[in-house]
Amino acid sequence: MSFFEVKDVKKTFGTNDVLLGINLSVDKGDVIAVLGPSGSGKTTFLRCINFLEKATGGTMTFDGETYNLAHIKKKEIAKIRKKTGFVFQSYNLFLNKTALQNVMLGLTSGRKMKKEEAKKIAEEMLEKVGLKERMNYYPGQLSGGQQQRVAIARALATSPEIIYFDEPTSALDPELIGEVLSVMKQLASEGMTMLVVTHEINFARNVANKIVFMDGGHVLEAGPSKEFFENPKNPRTKEFLNNITTQHET
Ligand SMILES: Nc1ncnc2c1ncn2[C@@H]1O[C@H](COP(=O)(O)OP(=O)(O)OP(=O)(O)O)[C@@H](O)[C@H]1O
Ligand SMILES: [Mg+2]
Repeated sequence: MSFFEVKDVKKTFGTNDVLLGINLSVDKGDVIAVLGPSGSGKTTFLRCINFLEKATGGTMTFDGETYNLAHIKKKEIAKIRKKTGFVFQSYNLFLNKTALQNVMLGLTSGRKMKKEEAKKIAEEMLEKVGLKERMNYYPGQLSGGQQQRVAIARALATSPEIIYFDEPTSALDPELIGEVLSVMKQLASEGMTMLVVTHEINFARNVANKIVFMDGGHVLEAGPSKEFFENPKNPRTKEFLNNITTQHET
């Protein structure tokens, strides 16, 4: 059985049905790229499964326990969050704290870890993302790509079982995208389980092992990455892939 599974996730904002029943199952070591046009509900889905938004319905199974998303308790959310990490498009770093302090924070305040121990782990994680030399810099002294790598180090520090990424490179200048993707690729090769909303089609094609294609609040197609790109089944998927290829060519 998958260690992480959601079923029939629904979300309504007022009268706007944004998620109409999303299913997803994740195995350890999966890198799942979530693709889909703007407004299809990708961010809303990630926010619902990370409890930044309350789902209207659906269930989540995590490490053998099943929760009703519409009625989940704060304690249960805290328990699941301890095992998950989230990387946002906009980094969300504390500007008045150094890279090191940003990474330490989740350990000292979130996990009540001793400062010395947290510092050791934070340094290790910053080294892993190639920022050992910059660990005492403030976010304002770092490039967007470096800030995003700090955010990845922060997510890694708490040893999550899965990391969710919401368009981690879309706020970056084109020349900074590669450094972030290569860190993510490295994590993938080390077996980190990742769910990545992205428009980086090459990352989806070459790094992800599974693809979920969303449109209009539904999953229209899901499956192995190779099959998705070589033999898409849904007409909307074909159209989406055609548009992307055309854009890349122009
Ligand atoms: N807080 C909110 N209140 C009302 N409607 C919302 C809210 N958040 C999102 N929506 C609506 O939900 C729909 C899906 O939005 P979402 O941000 O999940 O799309 P997305 O697939 O992430 O798009 P993009 O690729 O542009 O990031 C949109 O129609 C949006 O207007
Ligand atoms: Mg989005």
